[in-house]
Amino acid sequence: MDTSIRRRIPDPSCSLRTCLFVAVAAAALLGRGARAETPMDYLWTHGPSADPVTRLTWGLTAISLLVIVIIAGLVLFACLHRRPPDAVPEAPGRLPVGPEAGGLPWITIGVGISTLVLFGSTVWTIRALAAVASPERAALAIDVIAHQWWWEVRYPGAAPGEQIVTANEIHIPANEPVHVRLESVDVIHSFWIPKLAGKTDLIPGQINHAWLQAVEPGTYQGICGEFCGPQHAHMMLRVVAEDQAHFDAWRKQQSEQAAPADQTSATQGRTVFLSHCIKCHTIRGTPADHGDGPDLTHLMSRQTIAAGMLPNSTAALAGWVADAQGIKPGARMPTMHLSPEELRTVVAYLQTLH
Ligand code: CUA
Repeated sequence: MDTSIRRRIPDPSCSLRTCLFVAVAAAALLGRGARAETPMDYLWTHGPSADPVTRLTWGLTAISLLVIVIIAGLVLFACLHRRPPDAVPEAPGRLPVGPEAGGLPWITIGVGISTLVLFGSTVWTIRALAAVASPERAALAIDVIAHQWWWEVRYPGAAPGEQIVTANEIHIPANEPVHVRLESVDVIHSFWIPKLAGKTDLIPGQINHAWLQAVEPGTYQGICGEFCGPQHAHMMLRVVAEDQAHFDAWRKQQSEQAAPADQTSATQGRTVFLSHCIKCHTIRGTPADHGDGPDLTHLMSRQTIAAGMLPNSTAALAGWVADAQGIKPGARMPTMHLSPEELRTVVAYLQTLH
């Protein structure tokens, strides 16, 4: 047999493998176990700021699948159904003209059902969009400011000194609606916490609004949802929802100034920091009180650094300070040319910022 022909014969075991792969992939996608391990999964959401749209998504998907099944079934039926002998044209390309065979009511029924379903879908869509547009009340209002490529988070206080500034991590009380005011200082970004809310763009020169409500305590992963430059994929943030008591304790702790460095190495590191880093970073309670970079006053209370790229560990901190450009090329954080001793002491100082 000619080999080129033989190659075209499908291998049954190959089809079986493909089917198995598709089945396993579908099970993994839809399986309950997979949900906990898919922090960016927007098909299973956890709050009233997202749930109406998620239900709409599943509902419209189910309706669409049902329509496909019904139409495919009818087409198959028509293909397999033999025509009555008198309906066969006498010559190719010619159809006999006969009396109306009672098909018109079926067209009316089909159009009627489609119209009802489309009208219902439209009403459902409008109601879902209205439900997620804005909360009836907000227990908390925060500002999120996008930078290339990190997130500044501000909690306005009653007085100027009570304002909290942090980065890449939003703490909220669980089961309370939180209003988020969004702005950007450079290019267009998009605020997206898939399990809690859809995307809202942050546009330079314009204030946009979003809201979040997490029904249960937990950590919810987010990421910039709009291409904003080479490090767009490394612009992550997380929302930590906690019960009211824990949230109040966090807020009180964040409003305090940085504790003075007491160990020798940390004191030396503080000197290194104040001579190299204060043009960009703020540490409240020190002369470092301006700059466009992240506020580091309570750096060690955060789970990650570099907008979610690295864990907040000693090794990662040292690596980031020593070679930020190697880790995140193009970021505003320069590679600091410090001696090994300076690097060790500056990391020791940063680790006092609880
Ligand atoms: Cu910011 Cu993409």
